[in-house]
Amino acid sequence: MRQRSQLIAWKVAGRVSDRHTSADEVVRETGWVFNNATGDHLTLADFVATGDDEVPAYLEAFGLRNSENHQQSMIEIGSGIGRMTAAFTREFDHVIAADLDIGFLERCHETVSRFGRADHLRTLEVADGRSLTLNDDSVDFAFSYLTLQHCAQADALNLAREAVRVTRSGGRIALNFRGPSRIDPLLLPLGTIVRFAFRLPRVGEWLSQRRSITRLAWQVSRISPSQVLAALGASIDGVTIWSGGPVDDLQGAFRRGRFEGINENHWWITATVV
Ligand SMILES: C[S@@+](CC[C@H](N)C(=O)[O-])C[C@H]1O[C@@H](n2cnc3c(N)ncnc32)[C@H](O)[C@@H]1O
Repeated sequence: MRQRSQLIAWKVAGRVSDRHTSADEVVRETGWVFNNATGDHLTLADFVATGDDEVPAYLEAFGLRNSENHQQSMIEIGSGIGRMTAAFTREFDHVIAADLDIGFLERCHETVSRFGRADHLRTLEVADGRSLTLNDDSVDFAFSYLTLQHCAQADALNLAREAVRVTRSGGRIALNFRGPSRIDPLLLPLGTIVRFAFRLPRVGEWLSQRRSITRLAWQVSRISPSQVLAALGASIDGVTIWSGGPVDDLQGAFRRGRFEGINENHWWITATVV
């Protein structure tokens, strides 16, 4: 089956990271794919430390950090090699790390074995990049960071619906998106060209180790809060839209949260599942 264009840069990076023998080497060569950090001396421990800082920070900012988490379950959509997953397994009793690349999921397991609670972890391949092979009401909480912005719009909206479907009634979601910006007319077509180049034999693997070019390949789609709210409709309640700055198209009866430190083009939705 021909690889869908928006998945290709991840699959190639997954293949490249598979070849490295040590996790520290993976972090030095492809770790920037997950948190932008680069450097010859980076280690898996440094990488996981960034997730250890961010997980409590996001949960606290969103009012989602409490002692009940220790008895609860969650799904992390787009876990990668486990930068944040290790911290989630210490915070929650049962964590499902979901990603489209099986190689990343294997690395995620290794990361959690060293820095988290592997006994709290299960991995889930998102084979089609848009659906979660889980029953309805499987978890208490669904989380996604730096992932839905890399999906085609229809896939991202479907994954948002899937996040709600697999979360029990009364459970919570916290999903991160990238909204439209002025440079999109340049970035999005460049992204299409670079993704095409990723298909060329050997070129893709070379490209996947070049940060600025790979970042262009990720420029797939933009999604505004109103699109997500329309997709989720009455299935959610108690909505807050969080941003670091103004969000243009917001209308309606939900709270706006301000979160210093959010990338100016990013926004989050938190909500309770009805
Ligand atoms: C920038 S990384 C972020 C990883 C992690 N959330 C973190 O902050 O370290 C994006 C991850 O999303 C995964 N991904 C991209 N598109 C996806 C999709 N359609 N379904 C599931 N995972 C996807 C990639 O394989 C990659 O591991």
